[in-house]
Amino acid sequence: MQTTRRGFLGAAAASTIALSTPARLAALAQARQSAEAGRLFRDDILTPALLLDLDAFEANVQEMASFLRSHQRGFRPHGKSHKCPEVGKALAKAGALGHCAAKLSEAEVFAAHGLGGLLVTTAVIGKAKIGRAVKLAAARQDTIFSVDHAENVRDLNAAAAAHGGRRPLRLNLAVDLLIGRTGIEMGQPALELAQLIDALPNVRLAGLQAYDGGASHTTGFEQRKARSTESMSRAAETRRLIERSGIECPLLSGGSTGTYNIDVEVDGVTELQPGSFVFMDLDYNRIGGQDGPVYDDFRSALTVLTTVVSHRPGVAIVDGGFKAFSTDRPFTPRATDPALAEVPYAWGGDEHGRLDLSAAEREVKLGDRIEFLVPHCDPSVNLYDAMYCLRGDRVEAVWRIAARGMSQ
Ligand SMILES: Cc1ncc(COP(=O)(O)O)c(C=O)c1O
Repeated sequence: MQTTRRGFLGAAAASTIALSTPARLAALAQARQSAEAGRLFRDDILTPALLLDLDAFEANVQEMASFLRSHQRGFRPHGKSHKCPEVGKALAKAGALGHCAAKLSEAEVFAAHGLGGLLVTTAVIGKAKIGRAVKLAAARQDTIFSVDHAENVRDLNAAAAAHGGRRPLRLNLAVDLLIGRTGIEMGQPALELAQLIDALPNVRLAGLQAYDGGASHTTGFEQRKARSTESMSRAAETRRLIERSGIECPLLSGGSTGTYNIDVEVDGVTELQPGSFVFMDLDYNRIGGQDGPVYDDFRSALTVLTTVVSHRPGVAIVDGGFKAFSTDRPFTPRATDPALAEVPYAWGGDEHGRLDLSAAEREVKLGDRIEFLVPHCDPSVNLYDAMYCLRGDRVEAVWRIAARGMSQ
């Protein structure tokens, strides 16, 4: 069989699977070159693969950036959703003042790729990590760390002193917004921790970290609005309490894709940190929008491409299972092809998904390529080394998910 030049380049560039890490990186670099040269197409991509629709992604970035700008709120999108420096750079270009990172190691990757204004939204606990946090802050002085415990504040202060203490570490005080997960109780306990930070020489209060994950996914706009307005208003009240005591508390950072247009109405919220809006997922579609049962303020930009690898009458098996999609939601992926929209996908194990074709409005054959919307974007992205960025059927870029697996 003759291999065309385009086919060869495409296949070589896309074959990142089953290679050692250095070989995988080399294959990714090659894929990137082919994409940049305009020689890589959707049909060349080996499956399962993560795809990004660039038109939809860029529209999402612009939509959120201009919405927040028009409401005079800062934009510090959460990088835990994308884990990808190229996405971060696109957000910075659109006006993001910085980037949130869920974990220290994620922030380190972002910093290494030139992203600034980092806010680590979980506490950095333990000597080794605190040492690394101090180094990161020395390299990127605008980095902010989240704290919710006096002992951790003292440890950070001591580590910063041992590191020369040239500039105090910037800390956001994380408050517990009705979740009961992390964060100090709002009101007096938060004020006392702010006073401790204020009293120590090598740390400085940057603001409050206030994320209500329960509000983000509350179904029904009015219910979501009630919940988020209550929690963010209480956070804003705590910020005022701290400021009334004479301690500056410049930031109140929080919010999400689900609550962005609610939280901007709360006086005292200075910046928002939504993440999923860049991609969207089925989970967010289901929470209900302001004008209808489907939340579609942002476009679905992220899909997983699969291939039908087995077929018998009425059933097709695709090569995407637990390892191709996150499985943390009580529903499964959905095909983007309208003719397959009613076809149920069922988990078929680690490597497979089963399609019941009785509801298919077109023929499905062995080797067909089927794209799916993911149940939950963040953990799905974390399964892939790279995303193939498409403009129509042409792969315009291959972006490495450089902070994939950075969960320390
Ligand atoms: C602390 C924090 N802020 C912001 C977000 C962004 O939320 P979303 O991806 O729903 O926009 C998350 C998501 O889990 C988060 O943990």
